[in-house]
Amino acid sequence: MTAPDLPAELKVALDARLQGLSRSDAAERAASISRTYRDGGGSTAIRTETDALAYALARMPATYAAVTASLNALRETVPHFAPQNLLDVGAGPGTASWAAAEAFSSLQHFALLDANNALRALALDLAASSTRLRDIDYRRGEARATLADADPAELVVASYMIGEVGDAERGALIELMWAKTRDTLLVVEPGTSAGYGRIIALREQLIAAGAHVAAPCPHDGKCPIQPPDWCHFTQRLPRSRAHKRIKEAELPFEDEKFSYVVLTRSPIAARPTRVLAQPVVGKVEVTAKLCTPDGLVIAKVSRRAKADYARARRWRWGDAVMAED
Ligand SMILES: C[S@@+](CC[C@H](N)C(=O)[O-])C[C@H]1O[C@@H](n2cnc3c(N)ncnc32)[C@H](O)[C@@H]1O
Repeated sequence: MTAPDLPAELKVALDARLQGLSRSDAAERAASISRTYRDGGGSTAIRTETDALAYALARMPATYAAVTASLNALRETVPHFAPQNLLDVGAGPGTASWAAAEAFSSLQHFALLDANNALRALALDLAASSTRLRDIDYRRGEARATLADADPAELVVASYMIGEVGDAERGALIELMWAKTRDTLLVVEPGTSAGYGRIIALREQLIAAGAHVAAPCPHDGKCPIQPPDWCHFTQRLPRSRAHKRIKEAELPFEDEKFSYVVLTRSPIAARPTRVLAQPVVGKVEVTAKLCTPDGLVIAKVSRRAKADYARARRWRWGDAVMAED
């Protein structure tokens, strides 16, 4: 499975861009972009080269880690999947394309779409030094227009994107993304209840259109989670020195919370149960919240069942639990 930290080629390319950039300027821009995101303003605040670089330094490690974790879950459930082409919708600095290139050595063609010129320019610059990504085809324009012109791809990804599209247009965008999906569609959103809400609405829309869920759900039925609870996962990622500085943070790592769904055109033969929160390991039992094909279960695995208890102790939030696990 792929590691959650940025690939070496990308780190080097980002570091090279940092030369000559005032760290305090970049930190200020990153803070202002984050504020805009928190206020629901999206990527429109990213206008200049410095903005784009500040965004990439502050957010790319986390969105990369979330996409990588989602692709790892897909690879576990559908190990034979070997896509040759990728369509990255709302690609920004190219994060999901980098993650997909690491996950699938089979990928040869990368098509990226985005409306933001500053992020597109940065993506092209970062990709120029990559052996896999130097020939990416990056179209600038509004998602629905560029998607309508794009060739269908075996793997389509929209990472931290659909939340920037208005509620009224989102359904049509999703329909178009699915129309361009030859095999598998991955959509990742922030792990907030609003992000989960968008994922679950998309999941329902596309199951009604014939899609099957490859991950994280072990079924194509209605999501059994009831509000105020919501389905999300967390991925720990290391913070580089530049990342710490730009985020004005002390900890050498951060935990990115994300919600996601992977949908495929073909039914999945065997779907694993999913661990939905960090299990509590006690002296007498392990308590774990599991999403199973039959619904939500709070499993209690007694220490007396030695082998089962030993296995359950190793479960981590987000893990796929196969029957023999
Ligand atoms: C939060 S960024 C995510 C970028 C990248 N996918 C990632 O995971 O790091 C959202 C991206 O979606 C793009 N975007 C949002 N709405 C769009 C639209 N209607 N058409 C094209 N691009 C759009 C933005 O320009 C921005 O690059």
